[in-house]
Amino acid sequence: MTRITTIQPDTLAEAASLLEADRLVAFPTETVYGLGANALSDQAVSGIFEAKGRPSFNPLILHCYSLEQVSRYAELNERAEKCAQHFWPGPLTLILRQKAHNNVSQLATAGLETVAIRVPDHPIAQKLLRKLDFPLVAPSANRSGTVSPTAPAHVVESLGGRVDMILAAGNTKIGLESTILDLSGDTPVILRPGHITQELLEQVLEQKIAYAELDKKDRPVSPGQLLKHYAPETPVRLNAIDLKPGEALLAFGSTKFMGIHGGGKADDLPETMRRNLSKTQDLEEAAANLFRMLRELDKPAHQAIAVMAIPQNGIGFAINERLKRATAGSNAD
Ligand code: TXA
Ligand code: MG
Repeated sequence: MTRITTIQPDTLAEAASLLEADRLVAFPTETVYGLGANALSDQAVSGIFEAKGRPSFNPLILHCYSLEQVSRYAELNERAEKCAQHFWPGPLTLILRQKAHNNVSQLATAGLETVAIRVPDHPIAQKLLRKLDFPLVAPSANRSGTVSPTAPAHVVESLGGRVDMILAAGNTKIGLESTILDLSGDTPVILRPGHITQELLEQVLEQKIAYAELDKKDRPVSPGQLLKHYAPETPVRLNAIDLKPGEALLAFGSTKFMGIHGGGKADDLPETMRRNLSKTQDLEEAAANLFRMLRELDKPAHQAIAVMAIPQNGIGFAINERLKRATAGSNAD
């Protein structure tokens, strides 16, 4: 049975006991809700793959409370230390070489020599991690192939019954999964865009950083990035400038002049058929709303979800990457 709870004085102790017993606890981070388990226990980690229906070749991210804790599991290098100093705690995952004999479950790393690791910036995540003497693996707390959860209700919808406890703490602030930066090779490569942008990373590391685009076989990729992701059931149509009959609208900015083929205006659609990522075209607000609004518009009655164009600057790049995946169909992480 799943216990869904807000944070009371004893809740974190209870969550810690469950995790110590190899059980699964969903908890909030600043990006999306994570499904936590003991990263050093094969049994706990296999529970994650089972609950998510996740393919075993897709490795997980370790969550630590500090750089010092990270250094017990991964080999730090100069670039990693710079990134840690600037961005941790925060929405950046680093791919680093594993420290020898670090006891991390090989299921968690899918047998790779590298490990994905981050220090989340959320008071509940921090408090929980500090109660444990092991790091947590935490993929997004959703069934594989569906949109990541940004609210406790999304975790219940996706994993209800498959998780022992859900620590509920409202909507997540950022709304997109962490940026993944691979620092395990000679040159840094972004494997997943996010709130921490390429430009910011380039400023801090004082060098050009490549982005490993999908389907380029000669570049390193996150195994999970090969898969179709973040997919609602309803088809998604991008760069919409008008609507077809039966389509729901995911707007960005003003919809005043948007029409519907065959007659009518977007603004006259019933409330259930339209959402606005940000009326003021604020990209941070749009990122925070994206997954929730995709869920809200994902209804069999809708022919498609028509999404207005989002500019490619700043976090717009990460938003567009998620949207592109949402058009690709279903199944995967
Ligand atoms: O914001 C986030 O990162 C959230 C919260 C809960 O922390 N977590 C999250 O985890 O998005 P998940 O499992 O949904 O995505 C992890 C991604 C996958 O695409 C996986 O392939 C990649 O990280 N990954 C993990 N280990 C890797 C490694 N050693 N090398 C390359 N990619 C790796
Ligand atoms: Mg995920």
